[in-house]
Amino acid sequence: MRRLVVTFLLFLNFALAGPAAAQSFADYSGRDLYMRFCASCHGVTGAGDGPVGQGLAVMVPDLTTLRRRSGGQMNTAQLREIIDGRAVVISHGTRTMPVWGYEFWVEEGADMEAEAAVRTIVDQLIAYLRSLQT
Ligand code: HEC
Repeated sequence: MRRLVVTFLLFLNFALAGPAAAQSFADYSGRDLYMRFCASCHGVTGAGDGPVGQGLAVMVPDLTTLRRRSGGQMNTAQLREIIDGRAVVISHGTRTMPVWGYEFWVEEGADMEAEAAVRTIVDQLIAYLRSLQT
């Protein structure tokens, strides 16, 4: 059920974006990307209180305390891996959060250019997360 909800959400996000390849998500601002792909679980302000997140079996982390929780500094390389899925964040045996590196790569056309677009998208997201720190 949880997987279904997440799959549906992803479908909705990408479907609303219109025909694939017409526009790259790499052109979106970090805020727009966050609102479209992350706020449903992590909440509009990043506090971890999004409507979909509340239906999950795991706690959705508060993204406004990333800096405080990591000793006053945000580790960009580590965040990149968490978001794109190279680092598996396991709270209950499996990763609940979608593997964004893969989702965006497919959406961007699944080729070399898509890889570059994914890097840009993830970096935009991290820059936006920086602006949310309390
Ligand atoms: C389906 C719900 C869901 C969506 C959508 C989602 N996340 Fe997550 N996220 C989680 C959960 C749950 C965790 C905790 C790890 C796990 O169980 O997968 C998490 C963990 C994280 C972490 C690690 C936080 C920490 O405290 O270490 C970051 C960073 C993060 N998400 C960023 C994002 C970004 C950026 C997006 C949008 C591209 C996003 N998330 C979309 C559910 C979600």
